[in-house]
Amino acid sequence: MRFTFVTLFPELLKGYFEASILGRAIERGSFAVDFCNPRAFTEDKFNRVDAPMVSGGAGMLMTPQPLYDTLQHILDEDPEAHIVFPLPVGKPFVQNDAKRHAKQYRHIVYVCGRYEGIDERVIERFADECLSIGDYVLTGGELAAAVMCDATARHIEGVLGNSDSLHEESFESTLLEAPAFTKPVTFRGSAVVSEFLKGNHSKISDLKKQMALCKTQYFRPEIIKKAEA
Ligand code: ADE
Repeated sequence: MRFTFVTLFPELLKGYFEASILGRAIERGSFAVDFCNPRAFTEDKFNRVDAPMVSGGAGMLMTPQPLYDTLQHILDEDPEAHIVFPLPVGKPFVQNDAKRHAKQYRHIVYVCGRYEGIDERVIERFADECLSIGDYVLTGGELAAAVMCDATARHIEGVLGNSDSLHEESFESTLLEAPAFTKPVTFRGSAVVSEFLKGNHSKISDLKKQMALCKTQYFRPEIIKKAEA
């Protein structure tokens, strides 16, 4: 699988995909990441990629031509590329979207806006999906795109060392994940749940379910209400 980030600031993202689990998965060839800078496509003689809004109002928008030509170039090379616009006005991106993306698409392109946003005509022409990572506004789409890519890449075969972790984690059932502990058994006066040390797996599993329920009830009661509806 391949992810392309259309961004004016590729350096914001490169390091993220060089380290740790994702960096190693890329080295192994489990998936690939590349970057395409719309500034390389601008026809403006001063290399500009932004302009004031024609309606007036504060801030600058990304102009259509550089983005339009960038995306057309990507589609000419791969007509099946799936184009995602991370936008605060998009549909909420959830775990199921991450799974669906990993399963259905070979190539996902994230179009990262900067300044006050993107000329709407580019979105209308190219967007397969507009997705938001939450109800707040970031200074650009790069972080949102990285979040979606990370959540998606975890579902690609061979990316996680132990794929069991995919099945036990939060959002895979209706409950959030139970609290987890490692060594030492007592740390600065605080002990782990003693039942976890006794090796009775069915008891541990029951206890984890109860704890997951309490945690979900406390942090995200709406998840339980939705499951009961
Ligand atoms: N771009 C800026 N803010 C965003 C958000 N919350 N989600 C997705 N893309 C964004």
